[in-house]
Amino acid sequence: MNTEIERIDSLRSLLHRHNYNYYVLNDPEISDREFDMLMKELEELESRHPEHFDPNSPTRRVGSDLSGGFTQERHIYPMLSLANTYSIDDVDAWVKRVDEGLSGQEVTIVGEMKFDGSGISLIYEHGRLVRAVTRGDGEKGDVVTDNVRTIRSIPLQLQGEGWPDFFEIRGEIVLPWAAFERLNAEREAAGESLFANPRNAAAGTLKLLNPAEVARRGLDAYLYYLLGDNLPYDNHYDNMMAARSWGFKVSDAMTRLHSIADVDKYINYWDTARKELPVATDGLVFKVNSLRQQLNLGFTAKSPRWAVAYKFAAERALTRLRFVSFDVGRMGIITPVANLEPVLLSGTIVKRASLHNDDIMRTLGIHEGDMLYVEKGGEIIPKITGVDVDARQLGARPVEFVSHCPACGTQLIRVEGEAAWVCPNKEGCIPQIVGRIEHFVGRRMMNIDGIGEETAAQLFAHGLVRNPADLYDLQPHQLETIEGFAAKSAQRVVDGIAASREVPFERVVFALSIPYVGETTAKKVARAAGSIDRLMAMTTPELEAIEDVGPRIARTISAFFADAENQVMVARLRQAGVQMEIAEDHSSAPVSDTLSGKSFVISGVFSHHSRDEYKNMIERHGGKNVGSISKKTDYVLAGENMGPAKLEKAEKLGIPIISEDDFLKMIEE
Ligand code: IVH
Repeated sequence: MNTEIERIDSLRSLLHRHNYNYYVLNDPEISDREFDMLMKELEELESRHPEHFDPNSPTRRVGSDLSGGFTQERHIYPMLSLANTYSIDDVDAWVKRVDEGLSGQEVTIVGEMKFDGSGISLIYEHGRLVRAVTRGDGEKGDVVTDNVRTIRSIPLQLQGEGWPDFFEIRGEIVLPWAAFERLNAEREAAGESLFANPRNAAAGTLKLLNPAEVARRGLDAYLYYLLGDNLPYDNHYDNMMAARSWGFKVSDAMTRLHSIADVDKYINYWDTARKELPVATDGLVFKVNSLRQQLNLGFTAKSPRWAVAYKFAAERALTRLRFVSFDVGRMGIITPVANLEPVLLSGTIVKRASLHNDDIMRTLGIHEGDMLYVEKGGEIIPKITGVDVDARQLGARPVEFVSHCPACGTQLIRVEGEAAWVCPNKEGCIPQIVGRIEHFVGRRMMNIDGIGEETAAQLFAHGLVRNPADLYDLQPHQLETIEGFAAKSAQRVVDGIAASREVPFERVVFALSIPYVGETTAKKVARAAGSIDRLMAMTTPELEAIEDVGPRIARTISAFFADAENQVMVARLRQAGVQMEIAEDHSSAPVSDTLSGKSFVISGVFSHHSRDEYKNMIERHGGKNVGSISKKTDYVLAGENMGPAKLEKAEKLGIPIISEDDFLKMIEE
């Protein structure tokens, strides 16, 4: 028994070290396999010893799906922003102001990258991560500790020596280019909207309620600011090097500069060299090194006088327009796309750039054969930002938006007040039909393996699937007639389709391709209605009463279900066995008053149902969920790995701690 506890401790420190070697130093000492085996051993031991729980154990990096919402916390020191400059001259002027402000003292400047992610504040006590808070409004931010724990390059337990007992370190959470591209490719395949840039993706990921999904996405973190009362050195650079020795990832680009000439050289070098970095940067930051001098210079209301940001110019290229094409989306929306002479921009070749809609195209005033400015800036999806009017060929005609659908020839319509032109031929326009099939099978919808964009098009072309409901009639031998399908892959698709009958109703609603009903709205609509019958019967005002549903969405939902073809599709899906009502646990209708007047605190990880499901059950049986244990709490519903502090408190107050089985028995009618 004791030896198992010792083994847990030694595995934890061993894994912390290997983790550091791999994620911070990029220099692993053991193979991935060996790492996984040690991790597995630790997981097993920890599950046998819940009493030896540690929120900072390396096993917690994989994330659990416990958290629900974020609490807010006030920053110890407000998180200010930096004054921006856009030219070498501006930076030089800042250096001179600093020199003057310090009346000619010797000044060392630290040059560093301005990482383009999401700012974070980490609090360490006794060498352990205790809290991670987003920038928020600068005064207070969201506590995202569970998500941040999954970021492998953030030490949960510091190594080395000399750290203050209590300190804060700030940095940037980033999503490296490679992870960003992988994530967007997955989202595209699943028919989800793409992240415009790694910054949005990092910020969005940090705010996910599911740390397991956060862990999967591959965030990274660079630290650049140490704060506290007992810092080891009197200057920024040495403090950051100390932080590096404690296990933090501090960029190698951080350098001390001793003159304006050094500063200029640094800018000129990184203006191009930054393109080779694995993460997005949007500029450089210059800071006065000495903490005493920082104190002397102080702050303005918004930013420190001792630091300045230099923003890189947006990357821009000039290239010729070959032609404008018009894409048709699954909702029939027509998007104009500029097809360009290939041009190199921030390391990738750009051939196409969205022109978004008619209004934007008109504002740009694009003519045939125009030379266009393409920009990436912080946005990864290139956009056309202007036209070189002087280079326009004589007699060039303006590019007109099409009046008819480029795919099916139907006259386009434009809804009053909307920017988009739409092809109304929902049932006869191939990209719309194929797009809906593709969306239906996507990972976040019905999650049918083995069908992607190409297969969806083939299924349609072979006359096998025209409407998502047709999928459920597919036989393996029919699939085998399609090129690229063998018996095995055909069976896999058919099995995938069969398994999709179990997909919860919320996702079915999303899969239907109701205009403007995205993933979140679909969930809310499905839960509010409870079943497809109820949803189809709901009046527009009833729909509008649902959170997130405004008049426009209410109208499109009503119109969708009023359509005869859609009614047939729904009927056939129902017949095929697709879920047409909410699984019991998600509906919020009261079931009994067995728990009336009882308040519950939920803690730990559960195996039969998710935490949210338990919360829901408590409410549906008349009970109340409360966040923290007090004298008034009636029960603590405890799963595995219940926090030790909660356990102690519950025991001290003599509040009964019940297991999930106890609870399920309790609510049995
Ligand atoms: S120092 C008081 N250093 O840029 C100075 N910030 O515009 C605090 N950022 O909110 C910031 N890289 O999120 C600093 N090397 C760097 C940075 C950096 C990126 C972000 C940070 C901050 C924003 C300021």
